[in-house]
Amino acid sequence: MSPTVTPTPPTNLIPSAAGRRGDDPIFALNAEAQRRARAGESIVNATLGALMEDDGTLAVMPAVIDALARVPARQAAAYAPIHGDAAFLRAVVDDVFGAGSALAAQTVAAATPGGTGALHHAVTTWLEPGQALLTTSFFWGPYQTIATHARRTVETFAMFDGAGRFDVAGFEQGLERLIERQGRALVFLNTPCHNPTGYSLDDAEWSALADVVRRASERAPLALLVDLAYARFGSPASQAWTRHVATMVDPAVVLVAWTASKSFAQYGARVGALLAVHPDAAERERTSNALGFACRGTWSNCNHLGLLAITALLTEPAARARAEEERARLIGLLDERVQAFNREAARAGLRHPRYEGGFFVSVFTADAERTAASMREQGVFVVPLEGAVRVALCSTAARDVPRLVGALAAGVAAAEER
Ligand SMILES: Cc1ncc(COP(=O)(O)O)c(C=O)c1O
Repeated sequence: MSPTVTPTPPTNLIPSAAGRRGDDPIFALNAEAQRRARAGESIVNATLGALMEDDGTLAVMPAVIDALARVPARQAAAYAPIHGDAAFLRAVVDDVFGAGSALAAQTVAAATPGGTGALHHAVTTWLEPGQALLTTSFFWGPYQTIATHARRTVETFAMFDGAGRFDVAGFEQGLERLIERQGRALVFLNTPCHNPTGYSLDDAEWSALADVVRRASERAPLALLVDLAYARFGSPASQAWTRHVATMVDPAVVLVAWTASKSFAQYGARVGALLAVHPDAAERERTSNALGFACRGTWSNCNHLGLLAITALLTEPAARARAEEERARLIGLLDERVQAFNREAARAGLRHPRYEGGFFVSVFTADAERTAASMREQGVFVVPLEGAVRVALCSTAARDVPRLVGALAAGVAAAEER
């Protein structure tokens, strides 16, 4: 008998590209929320990952807009160096590790289009095709897209243990499994203010994680990437993670995905960087060369206007002070929502991870699709995940939080009724 061939419509695309989803499910939900709001319904749209003012307009920092306007036209129009301007790279490294610090001296970097570009370079530079990166069971969906597009995969470990804390034992098991199988590992860790759960590792969790990384790195090449996308919105204590870096590097490398998207409320300029910390100068040089090659082989060079403006905001004292003041207002706006959420959620008995700041929190539910659908009937939009719904406090005014939490409680109850 001849084998059955499933007929496919004719396409010029390679087979792996022919079945791709073009739309992001979150943007589709947002479109529905906007359509219903335009039709006159009262809608709470907690789907999108950008910080909104209470009136629903995008929050921007005037200091950033001014810095963009002040960049000399001919400098902006010229190609940026492949790695990004040296002053930009220095400013970002100092922003993460502190000017003059030992870690800053052990760091090389390359400019990337946002944090997304940094994640891409990590995947293609520290994993072979076919290998898997390791991340938490809840993770930002584009990790999967970036990996798949680069012909790598994603594996996860349970993010939380029975007590609702970061599951260090689960992490170690996942890491061991991967090292056993592929002889190397790349870990993506999004903290503080994890998207989508809102979780920030505390100092004890960082210490335990660093122990695991140190032990595992004796067995195989290991890169730990800290995705700092929302770090500026974390609690002051959550910023202390850098003290664990020196205990992990050598032989492991610690990578940092840095982005101006959230910390400067400047998503559109696409300014970011990938940092790599290692005490060995030869390893740093190899790494820097590999990153330059990766830049040339993907986007050549980044948006020069954005790089120059962000450099000014990080290094010119007056511009920096103004940006910090404007950012403090945005952090205050978000904190008000976080506090309102924690208060109302406790009252309603919602189950969610520890949430001290950041754009998102997740609420656990037995059936996320059903919870989100029930909430949509009440005009409240959240994003269904596996086992939880993601709530974007960044786009929800504090005055709407009681309604949001009421809908969440009803949605979780609806899921349990089945
Ligand atoms: C967890 C996480 N990492 C990285 C990014 C990268 O963002 P961008 O490429 O805009 O800097 C985002 C953006 O939403 C994110 O949520």
